[in-house]
Amino acid sequence: MRIDIITIFPKMFAPVLNESIVKRAQQKGKVKIHIHDLRDHSRDKHRKVDDRPFGGGSGMLMRPEPIFAAVENIKLQSRKATKPQVILLSPQGEKLTQKMAKGLAKYKHIILICGHYEGVDERVRQHLVDREVSIGDYVLTGGELPAMIIVDALVRLIPGVLGDRNSLNFESFEGNLLEYPHYTRPARFRNMSVPKILLCGDHKRIESWRKKEAARRTKQRRPDLLKNK
Ligand code: ADE
Repeated sequence: MRIDIITIFPKMFAPVLNESIVKRAQQKGKVKIHIHDLRDHSRDKHRKVDDRPFGGGSGMLMRPEPIFAAVENIKLQSRKATKPQVILLSPQGEKLTQKMAKGLAKYKHIILICGHYEGVDERVRQHLVDREVSIGDYVLTGGELPAMIIVDALVRLIPGVLGDRNSLNFESFEGNLLEYPHYTRPARFRNMSVPKILLCGDHKRIESWRKKEAARRTKQRRPDLLKNK
């Protein structure tokens, strides 16, 4: 998988993407991540990428030319037969879910555009972008953190990225359920004990307890997930 990120803050990414599992995935060649400074595609001598809205109003907008130029340049570089999926990060997008992450993880090439200011020129949305994604119903200062979140959610789904120790088998949102409670050693800690059933060695009983706990927890915390089934 190849992921290109277009941003006005390219330095934000290294501390997050060069750690942990995403770092290892890159080292193993499972994913190639390229960060592009949008200002490199500005024709303006001050490398400006924003401008005032037509019709007046407060705030600045991202101009279309540098964004189109950046995306077109990436498409030329990649020389791949597969068409990249171009995604704009914005609070107006479709909300990111695990289901969406699984769908996106199937693409060979994804281009993420980090929105800023009051928004982007509408022509980017209409003629350049395949989809618009939000990470939740709140407004951030820009699309950089959302882009990192998408990269993290996708990279861990690429086959071979997670080892057995971090397996994908039983995790939250599988079958629309949250995870069951987990415990590790010691069996007793400051008078707090691990549920006895987990120590009984009967895997069938343990599995059925876990299923029940996952359902109970989901009903209690996220009844909306059960309705989506
Ligand atoms: N940019 C600002 N807020 C955002 C959000 N919630 N999701 C994606 N991009 C954003």
